[in-house]
Amino acid sequence: MNKKFPEGFLWGGATAANQIEGGWNEGNKGLSIADVLPGGKERVKLLKEPGFTFEIDNETYTYPNHEAIDFYHRYKEDIALFAEMGFKAFRMSIAWTRIFPNGTESEPNEEGLAFYDRVFDELHKYGIEPVVTISHYEMPLTLVKEYGGWRSRELVTFFERYAKAIFHRYKDKVKYWMTFNEINGALHFPMMSMGFVPKKEEKHQELFQAFHHQFVASSLAVKACREIIPDAKIGCMILAAPVYPYDCHPENVMYALQEERLFNYFCADVQVRGEYPSFIQRFFDEHHVTVDIREGDLQLIKEHTVDYIGLSYYMSITQKKDKTEQEKVPGNILEGVKNPFLKASDWGWEIDPTGLRIILNRLYDRYQVPLFVVENGLGAYDKMEEDGSINDDYRIEYLRSHIEAMREALKDGVELMGYTTWGCIDLVSASTGEFSKRYGFIYVDKHDDGSGTLERKKKKSFFWYKNVIATNGEQL
Ligand code: BG6
Repeated sequence: MNKKFPEGFLWGGATAANQIEGGWNEGNKGLSIADVLPGGKERVKLLKEPGFTFEIDNETYTYPNHEAIDFYHRYKEDIALFAEMGFKAFRMSIAWTRIFPNGTESEPNEEGLAFYDRVFDELHKYGIEPVVTISHYEMPLTLVKEYGGWRSRELVTFFERYAKAIFHRYKDKVKYWMTFNEINGALHFPMMSMGFVPKKEEKHQELFQAFHHQFVASSLAVKACREIIPDAKIGCMILAAPVYPYDCHPENVMYALQEERLFNYFCADVQVRGEYPSFIQRFFDEHHVTVDIREGDLQLIKEHTVDYIGLSYYMSITQKKDKTEQEKVPGNILEGVKNPFLKASDWGWEIDPTGLRIILNRLYDRYQVPLFVVENGLGAYDKMEEDGSINDDYRIEYLRSHIEAMREALKDGVELMGYTTWGCIDLVSASTGEFSKRYGFIYVDKHDDGSGTLERKKKKSFFWYKNVIATNGEQL
């Protein structure tokens, strides 16, 4: 039994363009959906309201993604720090609007392409492998306003054009790709990845039609990637959260199973097995969904499945059929009922390292393709001591226990490609637009009120993770 992390395991960190770059209106970049997202905890609520306007309103709101942590100008300094930790891989995304400012142009924007050339070159200088998400919560705003987001089939063409442009440009520099970040997250929170708030009465119809468009677009990207970069690996990316029944009442077990299948497996079944799963037809019937599937779509999906599953893991979810009287817990897009056996983070996300082992086993049992944990981490308030040190032992403990869980999964026979912790450098939170929800090994002096010098500082976890990588996960 091999207890060790395999040679060549891709240790590193993960980010998304809109949460780190800033430079929102530089280099001919167009406006993306992330540029109109206000900061603050009300963000999620606003984005669930059909009346959301997609306009910048500086009088009422702040826009933390506009400057973010200024990676756009400081990438050299940041990548040098990643290299110092010994990163083997860096997960990042390309901002669609740097390449196609409105999403609709026929030719890509050279300034945007050149920026990522510089970033990839810098990574390769240190032997760090870029792992690139093509679309991470930042579609062009024009596609939202003029086309209604992924409701429109036309987005398939725009996405394919964008994917082909970046494959051609970076074919010698990027060998690991993923199509849509947390594609399944749209089941509960479609605004950021699909660019619309479904009308209540047509919620399921609109949502699943948009999913179908993304599946077709993803398959076309897989096809193009194989043609243009034959030695690349391209994956899907799902938000993975094992669903536990609240107790052993069969009704609750069945309810949890249904939630698990819809949330964790629906998208992956299509993208990995190349088929809509058998269980979905009943769901479609009960929710009056008729997906417009064009001729050739199903064949395309069948023929161009992904090489691996990228997944984010933050927490498990506990579900009960009758939730009245139950204490609810907030989560990463999902909401469940309180699990009495788990403690929670400062933001109420339940901490469950064993849940990572469980979901890795479930996914591997079902799909038998390599898994890549491309997000995992603890959002926490960090305190700087008077001597300037940041002693984030809670973060070390969180990561240690999750790495141990991955090691157990390896022993269980799961095939794992790598581990990139979320927000390896402090960044803007996706769900709340806060800077104070910190995930990094590297502290960034930037605060919720917009103040801060943007200076970078190494936290205690920086040195801990450096040793984890140096010992290939032997010393935790
Ligand atoms: C994932 C997203 O859902 O969770 C990231 O892919 C996000 O973009 C991360 O930042 C953590 O969530 P949050 O809301 O704490 O930033």
